[in-house]
Amino acid sequence: MKKIILTTILSVSALFAQVDEPVEVPYIPFEIKMGKGFDAIQANCLMCHSFGYIINQGPQSRKHWHGKVVKMVKHFKAPITDEDVEITTDYLFEHYGNGKLE
Ligand code: HEC
Repeated sequence: MKKIILTTILSVSALFAQVDEPVEVPYIPFEIKMGKGFDAIQANCLMCHSFGYIINQGPQSRKHWHGKVVKMVKHFKAPITDEDVEITTDYLFEHYGNGKLE
């Protein structure tokens, strides 16, 4: 019985939880570089997450980027064709690469 009363009090009190000021959710515009292969990035990467994950990696090698795209396909079942794996990897290495292949 005590449990029921407690649950009722807790769930009803949630109805009175109010915030006086309007809540603003920050909008973070991640800027992505335009260029050859961008279309493929837009078509293949944005369906699941923002550009943030890409940009937050910092400059990386071609191997790193290829590994990330393959990871998306293998582990997260991203429907990316073999051709687009190469196109997106080239784009990522060109714009977010560190110049090293390995
Ligand atoms: C099917 C959904 C899906 C698609 C499509 C997808 N990703 Fe991801 N991606 C994920 C998930 C899930 C994570 C992990 C999220 C987490 O750990 O919070 C992730 C994480 C990442 C990360 C963070 C590093 C890491 O290893 O987790 C990078 C970089 C990344 N994705 C790049 C890409 C790129 C580039 C593409 C397009 C070629 C892409 N993703 C397409 C689902 C996807």
